[in-house]
Amino acid sequence: MIHFLIELPTWLLIRTSGILSYLTLFVGMAIGIAYSFPQFKGHRKGQLLRWHTHANLTGMGFALLHTVLLIIDTFMPFDWAEILIPFSAQNNPVLTGLGTIAMYGLLLVLFTTDIRNKLKRKVWLALHMLSYPIFALSMLHGIFLGTDSKQGWAAAMYIATAIILVGLTLVRFQMSSRKRQVKVGHTKPL
Ligand code: HEM
Repeated sequence: MIHFLIELPTWLLIRTSGILSYLTLFVGMAIGIAYSFPQFKGHRKGQLLRWHTHANLTGMGFALLHTVLLIIDTFMPFDWAEILIPFSAQNNPVLTGLGTIAMYGLLLVLFTTDIRNKLKRKVWLALHMLSYPIFALSMLHGIFLGTDSKQGWAAAMYIATAIILVGLTLVRFQMSSRKRQVKVGHTKPL
């Protein structure tokens, strides 16, 4: 068993699971933002919510795999303390610390969504909005720590995902402010 683990191409798997975690979390974010668009109603909305949940849980799964593999890796091994305590790693403490904080943030968002019915909506929403900085941290972590960031495809991936998320967020803000204006217009006294 130990022999099998040592023989694994861990470095390749660490990088692949990091990228897959980032991409699935991106899909989860994009669906989460699009969920509030007025075009989506009823059955479609329910389907979007399921995909949003699946993508986020898959992203968490890949992030866990990504970190557990760092323990097995023989080239640049991490111990549990370096992974669990932010900024305590010997190599790249700041950039790996951002990964650890992103991981804790992700766990917090997933857990509070699980117990959503027990929380006030305002509290749940405030915690859920932490997804934006959490995703930004995982992006900075990936860009500045990843070996693959030097490759054209990885740079294109980071740029495209950032543009799509910023674009969707702007559209969402525009739609909700238009909705508010329409509501105010309807209730204005004559
Ligand atoms: C939400 C959690 C996380 C996400 C989404 C994530 C994502 C990523 C991504 C996208 C890369 C770039 C891979 C590449 O360029 O091929 C990466 C690299 C890396 N991550 Fe994470 N990460 C997370 C958590 C962590 C944690 C907690 C640690 C350890 C404390 C960690 C340690 C590393 C290391 C050492 C690398 C460099 C691998 C290499 O040599 O390219 N990551 N991560």
